[in-house]
This record gives sequence, C-alpha cells and structure tokens, in this order.
Amino acid sequence: MIFDTHAHYNDEAFDEDRDELLKSLPENGIKLVVNVGANLSSTEESIALAEQYDFIYAAAGVHPSDSGELTEANFLLLESMASHKKVKAIGEIGLDYYWDEPDRAVQKEWFARQIALAKKCGLPIVVHSRDAAKDTLDILKAEKADEAGGIIHCFSYGTEMARGFLNLGFYLGIGGVLTFKNARKLKEVAAYAPLDRIVLETDCPYMAPVPNRGKRNSSLNLPYVAGELGRIKGVAEDEIQRATFENGRRLYRIL
Ligand code: NI
Repeated sequence: MIFDTHAHYNDEAFDEDRDELLKSLPENGIKLVVNVGANLSSTEESIALAEQYDFIYAAAGVHPSDSGELTEANFLLLESMASHKKVKAIGEIGLDYYWDEPDRAVQKEWFARQIALAKKCGLPIVVHSRDAAKDTLDILKAEKADEAGGIIHCFSYGTEMARGFLNLGFYLGIGGVLTFKNARKLKEVAAYAPLDRIVLETDCPYMAPVPNRGKRNSSLNLPYVAGELGRIKGVAEDEIQRATFENGRRLYRIL
C-alpha cells in the first residue's frame, strides 16, 4: 500500500491518458494521492481531481516561484478553496532562491501569510525549499509553523538541516532522487531520519526514479523508491510502504 504524498496529475504531461492512468493506480497498490497546487489555477485543478477520484486529495497553495501572482483579493480566493473538504494541506509554499524572481522579500511575505492561513484552517503545510535552507527554517520558527506541521517536500539538504526540520516536528518527503547514483547526501539523510518521519512522494511528472530516470514520472514508480529506502535502512520494502503510508495519513489527517 503506497501513499503518494505529492503529485501534480493536473500537469499537461498527463493530458493524453490522465483518466486511464489514475484509474489504474488503486489496483496497482497506490491507495492514496495528494495532488498539490502550485498556483491558483493548479489548486483549482487539484480540487477538481479530488472531487472526481475518491483516493485523491488536494493541497491548496501558491509556490514561491508563482507568489508574485498573489494579491489580497486572490488570497481570499485561496482561503475559500482551502475550506473544501478534500483539501488536506496548504501547499506547496516556501522559498526558492535558485530563481531570482520573484524578489526574496515577496517570497518570504507570502510564505509567512500562507503559514498563517494553514494555522487558521487547521491544516498542515507542504513546503518547497530550494537553496534557501536557513531562511526556510527561520520563517518556520518565527511563524510557529510547528503548530501546523507538515512536510519538507523533495528534501534536498544535508543531515544537519534535516535535524532542524525534524526537531520542529516536520516530515521529510523523499522521491525518485533517492535512487540516483550521485545522491549521496540524500541517502545519508534517509539513513539518518527516523522511519516514522519519512513520506514517499513522486513530484510527478518530474523526478522519475532509476530505472525510469528522465521519463515521465507517476505514482507507479514509487516501489523503486520504497525499495531503495528499504535497502538503506535495512528494512523490508513492505514495511517501508506500510510505515510511510501511515505517516502520510497521520500528517494529512486522512483517517
Ligand atoms: Ni511539487
């Protein structure tokens, strides 16, 4: 039983065969999926998918790279979307310093505002953090984001930073990168983090694991990630699947 805690099935990469693919997931052991919004329109699309499929839930949020689109008016719209009964988190939100736009001050402001929204709605957060480890941790602390909890998705930092996020009560999202030969840092983090604080994710259509690296990703590839995590931790793959499934249900409060 696998829980894909971070997918983007609204992406145009799935336009050709979305329904066929999604219908095939449960019979292939993918029992829960959270489709994550990255801006207002993909949040709307995520909710539409969650309405269409029982096993799909949604996260409502604006990615740091899209945070320039936020205004007071459409922030209210985001808040109303977040109240939908199948929305289980605010995300993905955070900081992305790999890109110069939008300005860091803009990214920080809307990250903080969306953390406050999560707390107001009683939802956890899905955090996107790239080349911004220290500022991400500082804002999570300043905004008391531990009260919301959530996932540091596509975790890309080292064990030192992992400790900081784990100490705040966050889960680490791990996906296809774990299977890459050169992913030494992430393999160390996977060995270091307790199994009850790791969740599996695809970030599909991106980040397909070996042996499908470079191809379109989907939840069907997650057994490769679970297998690699099992090898690193010396734990059977079915135990990895079971533990990460329960972790996902606990943190998204899907009972
Ligand atoms: Ni994502």
